[in-house]
Amino acid sequence: MTLIASLNLAKESDATRLIEAIGEDEALGYPSAATTEQADQSWTVDVYFEEQPDEPALARVVAAMLGPDAGRFVVSELADEDWVAKSLEGLKPVRAGRFLVHGSHDRDKVQPGDIAIEIEAGEAFGTGHHGTTAGCLEEIDRLGKLHDYKSILDLGTGTGVLAIAIAKAWEKPVLATDIDPIATRVTAENAALNGVGDKIDAATAEGFGNPVMAARAPFDLVVANILAGPLIALAPEIVQHLAPQATVVLSGLLVAQGPAVTAAYEAEGLKLTRQGEQEGWLTLTLER
Ligand SMILES: C[S@@+](CC[C@H](N)C(=O)[O-])C[C@H]1O[C@@H](n2cnc3c(N)ncnc32)[C@H](O)[C@@H]1O
Repeated sequence: MTLIASLNLAKESDATRLIEAIGEDEALGYPSAATTEQADQSWTVDVYFEEQPDEPALARVVAAMLGPDAGRFVVSELADEDWVAKSLEGLKPVRAGRFLVHGSHDRDKVQPGDIAIEIEAGEAFGTGHHGTTAGCLEEIDRLGKLHDYKSILDLGTGTGVLAIAIAKAWEKPVLATDIDPIATRVTAENAALNGVGDKIDAATAEGFGNPVMAARAPFDLVVANILAGPLIALAPEIVQHLAPQATVVLSGLLVAQGPAVTAAYEAEGLKLTRQGEQEGWLTLTLER
């Protein structure tokens, strides 16, 4: 269940300052947040949580940034169909590196030289339209020219889009895992649809909580497009499952969350080698 905490503000600058402060807040678990302009030119700040948020902590951040009279967040449940509607936003094909992510209605848009990935907007996250997915796809395309990875994990696979990109571009096997069994079912279906069903093993697991992880480790490439809070919590386990020379690509974090996520992985001995930004979202590449 996803919960959404919303607060309406008059000024865009206040909304921007507030989401930066919230995204960096440890007590709140570095949640994801977004601002949206309303028809009356006010700005709504929406913050997403997987569990009941710490409302006094939210109120403390609002008061610290904007003063005691700025208002308070109202928490509600985000209906599942909102997520489906969100992924349906992107009906146009998306280019990232050599990849073209498209729906079945856009097969004719595939050009010679494209690595086409067919994904229907549906029950799982990852149609290529989000800045985090596109950032990871570009980085996968770049890294493939520099490395010959052998053991690859896509952690938080969603629709399987990143695993399919790797399997198609490099003809390599990929372990694709997700906390959500719907995502792993959709990944297996999408892998078959894209002709790489034999290369992708889809498994349901929270973090590394499935024996298949230990069986396939150590990994020399881990891509994880999750969210800042879980990425920080998973840092020790991800690094523990890496080969001596390995690359980790992380996304799902806002620009303001970059330093906290980087610090969590540097504390485990990795080095930040690259960072890219798309629509306010960061993709970090770390190596050991
Ligand atoms: C933002 S989506 C990314 C989907 C896809 N990889 C992409 O790049 O578009 C994040 C996915 O991570 C999954 N997830 C969240 N926390 C997780 C965890 N601790 N372990 C595994 N998967 C997780 C969610 O269910 C969701 O499908």
